[in-house]
Amino acid sequence: MENTVDGRDTIALYSLLEKVYQDSGHDFRGYKRGTVTRRLEGRLYTTGARTYLDYMKFLDDHPEEYQRLVNALTIKISSFFRSPYAFQQVASLVLPELVSHKKERGERSLGFWSSACARGEEPYSIAILLAEFLGHELKDFDVLIYATDVSRQVLKEAQAGIYSPQDVEGLPSAILENYFAHRDQSYVVRTDIRQMVSFSYLDLVSTTKPPFMGVDCIFCCNVLIYLQRQLQEKVLGMLYDSLATPGYLILGEVETPTSSLNEKLECLDTKAKIYKKDRTGG
Ligand SMILES: C[S@@+](CC[C@H](N)C(=O)[O-])C[C@H]1O[C@@H](n2cnc3c(N)ncnc32)[C@H](O)[C@@H]1O
Repeated sequence: MENTVDGRDTIALYSLLEKVYQDSGHDFRGYKRGTVTRRLEGRLYTTGARTYLDYMKFLDDHPEEYQRLVNALTIKISSFFRSPYAFQQVASLVLPELVSHKKERGERSLGFWSSACARGEEPYSIAILLAEFLGHELKDFDVLIYATDVSRQVLKEAQAGIYSPQDVEGLPSAILENYFAHRDQSYVVRTDIRQMVSFSYLDLVSTTKPPFMGVDCIFCCNVLIYLQRQLQEKVLGMLYDSLATPGYLILGEVETPTSSLNEKLECLDTKAKIYKKDRTGG
């Protein structure tokens, strides 16, 4: 009974999340309660802890549990071109404008950021989209796709760029043939596509200063939904500061961002939630 989130248990839950933050730096205090408690249940069960207090004691005795907890609390479901509509809109609304802006100014750099990259499906999809869009002009640009995530486990897998047949299911055969090598039972992302992506650890929630500046296009998809409103605002503010001018923010079809975003950014597509920053401040 003590594991359920009723009035009594909220304090214990807060103490646990506070402890996790103080001891490991991972800040789940502003995540939506329902997701956190559901996911915690699994860790309590596995570790044999009956209450949040028991689990706090377990963490003290088994510090390696912190990483398992982070893995349990982060949902990593993803897929290549997860929202085909959003990628299609990026190809038709964002890339033509962005690339012609770069050409006009004689700039060669194209900076993208997949800010919750999971196992790499999203940043590699961005790389493939750019390769398809730019064709032979790809070599004229210095493309860099930052890919960050709070889970070190997924980052390791993402870096390897190796996927199962199920992972690539649904990809058009031309994309599969052109951008993946079929090895044994796996599909490996082509080396030049992998080289466009730079993976690193980053906690969107704890980051106060923008880790990257002047990014042309940021993807922040299927991660804000796990955060409480106030925290969503904070993360969006940091992403805004990271954007170049002009710069584009892609939230995807699932996120429901706060209305204040419309005050700072121009919404180019309400369904795919594609926003444009075309002036500083705002
Ligand atoms: C459901 S996946 C979404 C992956 C991809 N963006 C997509 O749309 O398919 C959510 C990802 O967000 C990551 N995540 C959760 N909290 C995070 C945080 N505070 N900072 C960075 N990444 C976080 C998880 O580890 C997970 O890989």
